[in-house]
Amino acid sequence: MCGIFAYTGKSGKDAGKVLLQGLVSLEYRGYDSAGIFTPESGSIKTPGAVAELKKKVPKKFNGKSGIAHLRWATHGEPTKVNAHPHSDCQGEIWIVHNGIIENFKELKDKLTKAGHTFVSESDTEVFAHLVEEKLKKAKSAKGGFEKAAVAALKEIRGTYGMAIQYKGEPEKLIAARMGSPIVLGVGKHERFIASDASPILPHTKKVIFLEDGEVAVITPDTHTVYKLEGSRVSRKPEEIEWTAQQAQKGGYEHFMLKEIMEGAEVIENTLRGRLIPEKGLAKLGGLEGVAKQLAKIDRIIIVACGTAYYAGLVGEYMLEEHAGIPVEVELGSEFRYRKPVINEKTVVLAISQSGETLDTLEAVREGKRRGALTLGIVNTVGSTIARETDAGVYNHAGPEIGVASTKAFVSQLVALTLLTVFLGRQRGMQPSEGKKIARELKALPAKAQKIFKGKGAIEKLARKYSEARDFLFIGRKYNYPVAFEGALKLKEISYIHAEGCGAGEMKHGPLAMIDEKFPTMALAPSDSVYEKVFSAIQQIKARKGPVVAIATEGNKEIGKVADDVLYVPETLEMLMPILSVIPLQLFAYYFARNKGYNVDRPRNLAKSVTVE
Ligand code: M6R
Repeated sequence: MCGIFAYTGKSGKDAGKVLLQGLVSLEYRGYDSAGIFTPESGSIKTPGAVAELKKKVPKKFNGKSGIAHLRWATHGEPTKVNAHPHSDCQGEIWIVHNGIIENFKELKDKLTKAGHTFVSESDTEVFAHLVEEKLKKAKSAKGGFEKAAVAALKEIRGTYGMAIQYKGEPEKLIAARMGSPIVLGVGKHERFIASDASPILPHTKKVIFLEDGEVAVITPDTHTVYKLEGSRVSRKPEEIEWTAQQAQKGGYEHFMLKEIMEGAEVIENTLRGRLIPEKGLAKLGGLEGVAKQLAKIDRIIIVACGTAYYAGLVGEYMLEEHAGIPVEVELGSEFRYRKPVINEKTVVLAISQSGETLDTLEAVREGKRRGALTLGIVNTVGSTIARETDAGVYNHAGPEIGVASTKAFVSQLVALTLLTVFLGRQRGMQPSEGKKIARELKALPAKAQKIFKGKGAIEKLARKYSEARDFLFIGRKYNYPVAFEGALKLKEISYIHAEGCGAGEMKHGPLAMIDEKFPTMALAPSDSVYEKVFSAIQQIKARKGPVVAIATEGNKEIGKVADDVLYVPETLEMLMPILSVIPLQLFAYYFARNKGYNVDRPRNLAKSVTVE
């Protein structure tokens, strides 16, 4: 996720100021690097957030139009040179982009052969050169810039929300959308393009939401929307009543809810370009350099904290069952003070959303000191863990603002599945099995959407149990770690006692706590351990404990025993945690929200724990 903002006007406003002010409200979308361009003053780019950019922009930086960007890095480190806007060879065409151009490597090779010079590692820069190339051919014809931009858009694959500016026609801006949001703002003698309505709202409440495959051309007094293949779209501006802050959250009350609801998109983003379904293979570019070494490793130690640790536990089940590699999962805070036995055939795999968690980082350093190959599954490009590990897989989940980790967990599980297929296929996993997993992975976004549709029922349930002071979460096998994650979500934002427990462990102690005031959330999908979990539910019911079951669609039996049932669609046993965690995230969210707590910033906690 990145944030883009563009302005063209003849209302007397200074584009430089409008753009900088707008970037502030988009900051939640990315804060790795920022940049701005106006045809009159040129471009300024910097690593870091808007505050850094503001320091670098001189007072006399101005203009009548321009484009600006906040980056959440995907391709290339968050450096000045990789920051947007990107331009062509001549500095005539300027682009800001949110998304990923999947075929950028082949385009880059082609354009390099045609004489173009690239200065960054960014996929976006390719697009500026592609428009330049097309413009060479179209320049004489009327509407050359537009034609060139459209021709270039037709050649790229991937996702984009873009704004394009050409110095030759400085009043005109082109926007395009495919998979990443674009909002047009329609003001008096001024027009805007943005990733969401928040930077537009101080200027106008009239907006047009572009749809995938649409292109818009704006000037201060006009806007035209058409489909990439050419037909005109007539869409009247709508008035929005959101505040700028609501717009940042996409209309949701909290970032946490927005981030949970992004789950389906996050699955797609983590998978994008990384599966070869017809061959049952996973293609992980970040591991190519160590692929030979990985074929020889005989043990993986996963190190992580909090939610990432629970993702690691699911990974342990996947990797051992489907890739045949022994795996241990350790809390970073424990691993760093032990004397672990490690050799050159050991991989230390760090999982971290922020890439800055000190205990996980120190565990990586300890692994390195002891001669292990270190890998990372990290969401934040250019973070310390990403830089210090030997190789890795980025999540591409976009920035997570809510302190409670939600979409990152979903994405970590998807990345671990890809890793399982990658390592499994090196070790005799049959192509048919790889294909089956790939097929099911691809089906997950639609299945996640189905769960989101039922969020009203989860909200109701959270109200029903609002008086509970304790909550037990039970699960077994793949859903054992999910039980702990569900408990963590509830306790960290609602401040009640919540505990995870293996369903098979109930009679070894926790069953003693159960009475009519102590509810249990039981993860009971129809998998290889369903009967066992079902029996644990019966034991709880025999002690009058209320039970909410998370079950697979079509299971009629469970409703006769459990007090409430939340259904999730069927999937492979190993992939079920990606779906079963969603109702738990939503339950925790509604439970805490009903208590009036600040769910995005729970007391005593920080988003990234960079101290011991
Ligand atoms: O940034 P990381 O993934 O390394 O963070 C690890 C934990 O601090 C984090 O998951 C924490 O437990 C969350 N608050 C859980 O929601």
